[in-house]
Order: sequence, then C-alpha cells, then structure tokens
Amino acid sequence: MTERSRYESDVSMSTPDPQPATASAPSDRSPEAVALIELRHVGKRYGNITALSDINLRVCAGEVTGVLGDNGAGKSTLIKIMAGLHQPSDGQMLVDGEVVRFSSPKDALAKGIATVYQDLAVVNLMPVWRNFFLGQELRSGVLRSLDTATMRTRTLSELRKMGIDLPDVDAPIGSLSGGQRQCVAIARAIYFGARVLILDEPTAALGVKQSGMVLRYVAAAKARGFGVVFITHNPHHAHLVGDHFVLLNRGRQQLDCRYDEIDLDELTRQMAGGAELEALGHELRRAAPRAVINPARCVG
Ligand SMILES: Nc1ncnc2c1ncn2[C@@H]1O[C@H](COP(=O)(O)OP(=O)(O)OP(=O)(O)O)[C@@H](O)[C@H]1O
Ligand SMILES: [Mg+2]
Repeated sequence: MTERSRYESDVSMSTPDPQPATASAPSDRSPEAVALIELRHVGKRYGNITALSDINLRVCAGEVTGVLGDNGAGKSTLIKIMAGLHQPSDGQMLVDGEVVRFSSPKDALAKGIATVYQDLAVVNLMPVWRNFFLGQELRSGVLRSLDTATMRTRTLSELRKMGIDLPDVDAPIGSLSGGQRQCVAIARAIYFGARVLILDEPTAALGVKQSGMVLRYVAAAKARGFGVVFITHNPHHAHLVGDHFVLLNRGRQQLDCRYDEIDLDELTRQMAGGAELEALGHELRRAAPRAVINPARCVG
C-alpha cells in the first residue's frame, strides 16, 4: 500500500457521509467535464512588476490541484485573483464555464469559492462553535437571541462528517492544535456553501503529525466532490494528495502535469530549482573544491 493510498483509505473509513455535498462526484467526471474554475492566459502586473504571466489552470470537482512555488513565485497573487481580492491584468477567469469578473471576495463566495488563509482569522478566546458561526450566527425566538444549542450541535456534526471528533466544542479555539484549527476553518467554509476550497499553505507552520491531520482532511474534501486548490512549498505534501500539479517560478507556469505524469523525486527536483540547483552545485564545487564536510569529523 502506498503512502497516498493509505491517506485515501483513511478517509473512506473516517468519512461517514461520502456523498458529495454540492459538486459532482469524482466518478461522474469525464475529461471534458466543465471545470469549477478555469484560468486562461491569466497575468497580473503591479506597476512595473509582473507577478504572474500566462497562467492556465483548471480546478475540477473531486480533485486536488497542488500549486507549488518558491517565495515570490506568485502563489498568493494567484489565490487573490481566484478569491476576488485582485483582478487579473490579462486573460480570463471562468466559473462553471462562464467568464466572471469578481470585484470583491463576496462575489467569489457567492459562486462557492472560499479561501482559508494561513492566519485563519479566528478569535482564539472564543469557543470552537462561536468561531464556526462567527459573523453568521444562528438566532431564534421573538428576541432573535443566539441559538447556542443548535450552533453547538451543528458544529459537532459538521466536524464529524469530515472525520474530526472534538471532545469539546466549548473549548476556546486557541486551545486546539494548529492542525485542528485548520480543519475547523475548512469545515466552516464547506458548511457555508463552498464548492471550491483554496487553502493557502495549510501545512506550512505544522509538524509531521499535524500536517497529516490536515492532509487527511484535504483528501476527505476531495472524496466528497469538492475542488481543492492546495498551495504549498512542500512537494511531499502536494504529492500525497494532489491529482494535478502546477509549479510557479517567478510568475511563470514552469510545470503543469497530472499525478501519473510525475513522481515525487521529479516534483521535488523541479521544486528545488531543478537545473538551477545543479548549476549552483557545480559553481560551489568550482569555487571551493576542497570544502567538503566530512561527517565523521563532526561526531564527538
Ligand atoms: N501588492 C503588490 N504590489 C506590488 N508587488 C507585489 C504585490 N503583491 C505581490 N507582489 C510581487 O509579486 C511577486 C509575487 O508575489 P506573491 O506574494 O504572489 O508570491 P508568493 O509565491 O506568494 O510568495 P511567498 O511564498 O513568499 O508567499 C513578488 O515579486 C511580489 O513582490
Ligand atoms: Mg504567498
């Protein structure tokens, strides 16, 4: 059993509701299926700086699109365009096959495109359920008072649907682990109608175990038919859950391939700079041919 299939089988065990919430199931897809989001020749300039140029990308239901790239590659700019924060300078963005021009994140949300940013925008001292419904609280009765009982039970059941069993939704969200907080933020986006989840480096600040939790969650969202855009610096994480990989390099699309077209070693090599890294190795060896560290000398 490969590492990847272990994640996928974990998901099928821990996901009580495998039915897609809103999007079509992966098995329904054909290669011609209309993409949830499609970017055609998208470019973005900030004054003289070209942050992105000629980006072509399809985000499909039941698939994870891994977007990789080093610092300054253009990942955040790409997210901001899909999330409606910025408009592209060139090219087109299509949602469900129709050209759109978002003027704010509200427009993107209305189309079911939700972005989970790394800082998560949670209130650490408030309970998990309050954060889950933050800004969209349920109210009841003539006085429209907070319906805390329903919000509590719904938070619990939504998290369980995605395989997260929290012992206490009354705990302040700040007391949860980083991985759990990410999962709550993703479950929240799904509950409020997302079809596409854009995850901005969700594993960047996490250790191995916590990253595993988030990756399982990403795989669960994919199994339920959501389209996921998974931004990361980490080719290992991308390769565990990704169906399709796009590598950005200084605003250009250096690589665009499907899971079965690239193995982890090659993805890592490309991410590490590929030819650029090899050239640097030659240069360093030429500059300091004898500066070879002997690990044996470092011991004791
Ligand atoms: N608002 C802005 N105004 C001017 N230049 C910008 C702006 N936002 C991004 N840039 C530039 O665009 C390029 C791409 O930046 P972006 O933040 O998208 O990269 P990134 O891949 O997210 O990097 P990181 O991994 O460091 O977050 C960089 O050269 C950056 O300096
Ligand atoms: Mg960024």
